[in-house]
Amino acid sequence: MKYIKRLLNRIRGEQDLNKLIERGLKLGNNLTRMSGCIIDPSHCWHIEIGDNVVMAPRAHILAHDASTGLFNGYTKIANVKIGNNVFIGAGAIVLMGVTVGDNVIIGAGSIVIKDIPDNSVAAGNPAKVICSLDDYLKKEALEMTEENTFDEEFTLRNKNFNTEHASKMIEACRKYRKAYVK
Ligand SMILES: CC(C)(COP(=O)(O)OP(=O)(O)OC[C@H]1O[C@@H](n2cnc3c(N)ncnc32)[C@H](O)[C@@H]1OP(=O)(O)O)[C@@H](O)C(=O)NCCC(=O)NCCS
Repeated sequence: MKYIKRLLNRIRGEQDLNKLIERGLKLGNNLTRMSGCIIDPSHCWHIEIGDNVVMAPRAHILAHDASTGLFNGYTKIANVKIGNNVFIGAGAIVLMGVTVGDNVIIGAGSIVIKDIPDNSVAAGNPAKVICSLDDYLKKEALEMTEENTFDEEFTLRNKNFNTEHASKMIEACRKYRKAYVK
């Protein structure tokens, strides 16, 4: 089973996490990696990832910078630490030398060049703290109503998901600008 999983990953062009761990990646429990993510394969022993980390599609964590290599023959390297309970948004890039704290959200498309403190939401290029995680979650909680919040029945995990489910969600997004789904 493990072998099949590794083979499928390889066919899909996804990195083999076990190989990275063998090379020295320090990985906590419960990493969720969506498609196209990159954890610097050639310098992964410089990378530490905590528990409960989500990497949205095409998120990158890099521990090297070969920009010098062309000119002086040396690649720069630095340690990178991602804390516990961190969401790294789609297409975001965490560069070498950065520490991302615990309980952090990194916005989609962000370039993280400096440390991000615990309990914060950071976004942009270069990524800066835009608010505390607490404030962000409070803001979202205020926007959740019975009409715009959907449970698992409204996901593809429900084998009977159909166009009626989809229509209800589209309607809720029209009315409330956005909706929430489990
Ligand atoms: C970072 C994020 C969580 C912020 O959410 P939010 O607070 O609801 O965002 P808002 O739209 O209220 O924006 C707040 C401010 O941050 C800026 N901002 C938000 N997301 C940003 C991003 N990804 N990059 C740059 N700036 C961003 C906005 O421009 C705004 O700035 P302003 O106050 O100067 O106008 C969200 O925008 C995000 O990027 N989520 C990740 C999405 C993702 O990766 N999905 C993948 C599928 S799993």
